[in-house]
Amino acid sequence: MALKDNIQALLGQVNELKANNAEELEALRIKYLSKKGEITALFNEFRNVAPEEKRELGQLLNQLRQTTEERIASLREAVESRESRAESKLDLTRTPDPIALGTRHPLSLVREEIEDIFSRIGFTIAQGPEVEDDKHVYGMLNFAPEHPARDMQDTFFVEKEIGVQKPTDVLLRSHTSSVQTRVMTSQKPPIRVLCPGRVYRNEAISARAHCFFHQVEGLYIDKNVSFADLREALLYFSKEMFGPETKIRLRPSYFPFTEPSAEMDISCNICGGTGCSFCKGTGWVEILGCGMVDPNVLEACGIDSKEYSGYAFGMGVERITNLKYRVKDLRLFSENDVRFLRQFESC
Ligand code: PHE
Repeated sequence: MALKDNIQALLGQVNELKANNAEELEALRIKYLSKKGEITALFNEFRNVAPEEKRELGQLLNQLRQTTEERIASLREAVESRESRAESKLDLTRTPDPIALGTRHPLSLVREEIEDIFSRIGFTIAQGPEVEDDKHVYGMLNFAPEHPARDMQDTFFVEKEIGVQKPTDVLLRSHTSSVQTRVMTSQKPPIRVLCPGRVYRNEAISARAHCFFHQVEGLYIDKNVSFADLREALLYFSKEMFGPETKIRLRPSYFPFTEPSAEMDISCNICGGTGCSFCKGTGWVEILGCGMVDPNVLEACGIDSKEYSGYAFGMGVERITNLKYRVKDLRLFSENDVRFLRQFESC
């Protein structure tokens, strides 16, 4: 029964076989299954076995060969997959690269800062449509019917029927003062709103002009609102936005919807007012338009101009962003170049 013992001893060994690489595996195959291998030797011995034992020992021998072949095949699979992983240089133990977070758009950062400052003195946000009608953008704001701002040169009109150029009063708003008319016709004073949003003007695109940009306009209506209140609010805003040493100056101007009207400059935030190339040596840079709401506008919106008065102001977010971050070319804001965008605050 020596053969049976040998078979059983080998069966025990075979299940414990291990190989770390292809060479070790080949050595195992030769040791057990090659022509001179141990299992082949047992098959040779089998020839001399007595006929009555052939059946049992034959079965055992076949089982031994099959088990060995299976064991070697499964070791081969393990070795090959280990080697192919090493080949592709995939190191599954490495920690992954950190996920790159996006950044906030500079116009959003500045718009939110403006909103934040005015919200601290009681302003709330009002929104309105970008596709507007003539009445809300111009008519109720005291623009004369033939006012040049209504010209096709300045305003994008929307054709009511595609391809048919008929006179139309549907247009893309050219300022967010349209939101002010909507608020004045739907709310009763006191009103204190900030109107941020995108506006459109028919301008050739260049470093200094674009066919759309962003505004934040403000409106305050109550009893006894004066120009001094307007000045105080704008001084507060300028100091919060550009630093406590900032000075402001108001120059007389004209807007159809305010009387009196003014443009506001701040002391140049680069040279501090001494004069530099940015402020063209003047020490001042213009940042917004403002004025007392024209009584005609109040009346057109159903507000008694004898009882109430108010002020309004409007600024371009791109302009303020340029002053804060020195972005000279307006086109950068809408080109989505990540090298530009990545320079701003991350999310
Ligand atoms: N609506 C004006 C503009 O778009 C800005 C402005 C608003 C001026 C309110 C005065 C008062 O240029």
